[in-house]
Amino acid sequence: MVSNDTMNLSRFVEEMDQYLDYIGGPAGALALTGVAAASAFYLASRPTPQRPLVALDRQSFPLPGPELVRVSKFYKESKEGKFVSFIDKDVRTLYDSFRQGAKESNNGPCLGWRDAPGRPYQWLRYDEALLRARNLGSGLTGLGMGPGALIGIYSQNCPEWVLTEQGAYCYSMVLVPLYDTLGPDACAYIIKQADIQVVIVEDDAKANLLLDRAPRSLRRLVSIKETRPATNQRARNRGVEVLRFEDVESAGAARNAPEVPPQASDLCTVCYTSGTTGNPKGVMLTHENVIASVCSVLLQLGDHKPTRSDVMISFLPLAHMLERCCENGMYMVGGSVGFFTGDIKRLPDDMKALRPTVMPAVPRLLNRMYDKVMSEVSGSFIKRVLYNMAYSAKESELKRGIIRNNSFWDKLIFRKVQEGVGGRLRLMLVGSAPLAGNVLTFARCALGCLVVEGYGQTECCAPISLTVQGDHVPEHVGPPVACCCIKLVDVPEMEYYAINNQGEVCVKGTNVFQGYYKADDKTKETIDSDGWHHTGDVGMWLPNGTLKIIDRKKHIFKLSQGEYIVPEKIENIYIRSQYVQQVFVVGESLKSCIVAVVVPDVEVVKGWAQENHIPGTLSVLCNNPEVKKLIMDDMLGWGKDASLKSFEQVKDIYLHPDPFSVQNGLLTPTLKSKRPQLKAYFKPQIEDMYAKLT
Ligand SMILES: *[C@@H]1O[C@H](CO)[C@@H](O)[C@H](O)[C@H]1NC(C)=O
Ligand SMILES: *[C@@H]1O[C@H](CO)[C@@H](O)[C@H](O)[C@H]1NC(C)=O
Repeated sequence: MVSNDTMNLSRFVEEMDQYLDYIGGPAGALALTGVAAASAFYLASRPTPQRPLVALDRQSFPLPGPELVRVSKFYKESKEGKFVSFIDKDVRTLYDSFRQGAKESNNGPCLGWRDAPGRPYQWLRYDEALLRARNLGSGLTGLGMGPGALIGIYSQNCPEWVLTEQGAYCYSMVLVPLYDTLGPDACAYIIKQADIQVVIVEDDAKANLLLDRAPRSLRRLVSIKETRPATNQRARNRGVEVLRFEDVESAGAARNAPEVPPQASDLCTVCYTSGTTGNPKGVMLTHENVIASVCSVLLQLGDHKPTRSDVMISFLPLAHMLERCCENGMYMVGGSVGFFTGDIKRLPDDMKALRPTVMPAVPRLLNRMYDKVMSEVSGSFIKRVLYNMAYSAKESELKRGIIRNNSFWDKLIFRKVQEGVGGRLRLMLVGSAPLAGNVLTFARCALGCLVVEGYGQTECCAPISLTVQGDHVPEHVGPPVACCCIKLVDVPEMEYYAINNQGEVCVKGTNVFQGYYKADDKTKETIDSDGWHHTGDVGMWLPNGTLKIIDRKKHIFKLSQGEYIVPEKIENIYIRSQYVQQVFVVGESLKSCIVAVVVPDVEVVKGWAQENHIPGTLSVLCNNPEVKKLIMDDMLGWGKDASLKSFEQVKDIYLHPDPFSVQNGLLTPTLKSKRPQLKAYFKPQIEDMYAKLT
């Protein structure tokens, strides 16, 4: 949810943000069709309430004992402290599950793509996908790769991504996804740390990005699309050979190496996530981890689970476990996955062509849909009235457990929203960031399909908890899924106590990762000696046994008089000042007060200086005591309004003219403060402030 990994995804989604307006079509988002036709339809259709699979007022099961552990009700043996690892004992790896899907679908359509917008989707069938994957894997063995080898992949979602994944599994190799939002330094770091020799790259541009900082371990790039001769030469100069994907496939076909299928306990992937501090961490996941996650979500979806006749749209990055698990769930049941053309602007067009029935989504996308409808509604009185009627009618059906898209109001008002996602959607899984309650309820009403919200982390493969069909109440993330149990652990410094049903979310189960790659110290910081993974998220149990995420365990320190300081909380208050562009609050246990580094807002401060006839650049103004007093007084005023305690107010500030940025290493790629780096960077100024205060 608010995990590191989530931030990567949020960033991706932010990048596509500007295009999400296109969803729902460039014209109006609401339909206003013939009332007569719609009412005739209404009379012909009768709603049927869904029967929830668990009692909605007791959605999880509390285990006896002082730790107040809760488990899923979707698996009988949960009560004995057991976790789901698989549904079918013969399907325990992602190698097995793909083959099961192939059988299930009877060689149905598997991977879909379109060459250009306006063209229909083309499909690779299961048997052909299996053959090509195996050929590629066999080709990789020809490049010296074998069981346990780490294979990099740096590409947008496409059929070749999945062929690479499955090809690697045929020979027990391990996939390491690279992605743009990591940044080139992090990609180079990963290749080096994981000692990766072969990376499958999408195209010339991505090949060049890797070549810019190619670590010595890198030997070969296998490019899905054609690369330029200049690139190949550039690679050769660095001792890297560029091969073509199809050539590796044909070499593999000729070689025909015997398969070496993986065991459930073998790694299937090392999934790197970038944190707020330091280098990215490689989350090691086994086949069992992913199969357990997928199976427990399938169990919980009950009758709504995907089947071989379902079609999923793939556009969230496959480098993220949410998408990876969803796709592997589809392959397990023999469903089809169609890839977007790679340009998020054309996603609506892709959806119209693909007409997906299943869609993984992120809150931002739903927010966009919601905003669009709201802005349209606000522009017209009649639309507003009709919308409100439609919404309340559908909401009251929702409360009775009725999910449908064929009511009078769907035809009249929500048809366009539904057509905007292809007009055939029946299941949407939302995850990766907090989702506002009103937006979720809106989505459930407007889309008229099952919308479930999950909470997860890469360290738990993806799912930790998931809402149950039939529960229409938003703003919680459901009960634990059947592959894990959850307990809440006291966070005294933030006044969260397990006895009050609040605390840090800790997870144990078959979905919990094996540790961070080559970073035992970091692993020990998050998985304790009893096997509990500490997520860093703060949750609370609702009376009906569902989890609600309420906070994030923050960076915290104690002052010498014993008071706790949560710097982020204080920063979030000071940032309200118009003069403050960025602020970093700092202190330590040897001191009795806190101080801050402030980057002033250029425009506002310069404007003020002009009015007051104070000359100078921002650097000069930063050294002006009047300017400093102005800004500090304003900050303290905001602090007072927000009832900060006196020890929570800064006693001095240092004004710095240059913003903290990703480039100067003071912010993460997701624009969060890198606290240790900031502290080191401003050490002289901080010491100076403290020297003057004592
Ligand atoms: C309505 O829902 C049904 C069943 O979930 C689905 O088959 C159908 O395609 C949906 N229609 C639209 C317009 O979304
Ligand atoms: C679950 O509990 C909350 C808080 O008591 C309540 O608001 C909500 O309606 C309950 N949900 C269901 C589905 O009963």
